[in-house]
Amino acid sequence: MQSRRGPTYKDGIKRVHVGCGPHNLLPDWWNVDVRKFSGIDAVCDVTQPWPWEDLEYVFGEHFLEHLPLDQALRFLENAGKSLRTGGTLRLSTPNLEWVLRTHFLQGEAESQRRILDTIKMNRAFHGWGHHFLYTKEMLTFVVTEMGFANVTFYTYGESANPDLCNLERHGGFQVYDGQPSVLIVEAQRGPDSIAIPATLTAFFQEHFLRYIASGH
Ligand SMILES: C[S@@+](CC[C@H](N)C(=O)[O-])C[C@H]1O[C@@H](n2cnc3c(N)ncnc32)[C@H](O)[C@@H]1O
Repeated sequence: MQSRRGPTYKDGIKRVHVGCGPHNLLPDWWNVDVRKFSGIDAVCDVTQPWPWEDLEYVFGEHFLEHLPLDQALRFLENAGKSLRTGGTLRLSTPNLEWVLRTHFLQGEAESQRRILDTIKMNRAFHGWGHHFLYTKEMLTFVVTEMGFANVTFYTYGESANPDLCNLERHGGFQVYDGQPSVLIVEAQRGPDSIAIPATLTAFFQEHFLRYIASGH
């Protein structure tokens, strides 16, 4: 049997599946996770600098929300810099707007309902190791500011690129009031360089990061 060769090799697999977890490994992808799950290709923290270049695709399912916001930016920067020009990043992550519409009754509510909704909202933000929930606008803003191009949202399993169709494995995708429960975004490495602009760091520092820094 031919052994699998990773993205460090010129002829290796150039499709990296980040935060792959133990259950949804993709056969033609280089499956990586920060935890040492059986069957994965490499243990790595993708918020640290990547040893790879010229990647064709980076895919991460139900992964981005597990990173603190500053680390999520570093992951996006690493992914973008490791992609070849024209390479694509595809991410799925819970949709905050769907959470709001489905987990919290607007207007008057009975006390018991309000108590349960309060728990459900907090669970969405803090449960399962979540750190930050995104909206379509926030994802678009972040990746565009960082230099990605052709930002496009898709539904579960769909893409204009046949290589990126039917990748999702994580179940539970629903639509309520026109809002998908999970945002699935693709963004390409275009002609611009990928970086975290100082203005973006300052924006998040002012509005979010300084409030969650330890000791505050
Ligand atoms: C909710 S699980 C999703 C697993 C899989 N993608 C799925 O949908 O079934 C999030 C995964 O991200 C991994 N993860 C969290 N932080 C990471 C990091 N910094 N680098 C790589 N993987 C990370 C976790 O270990 C976990 O396996």
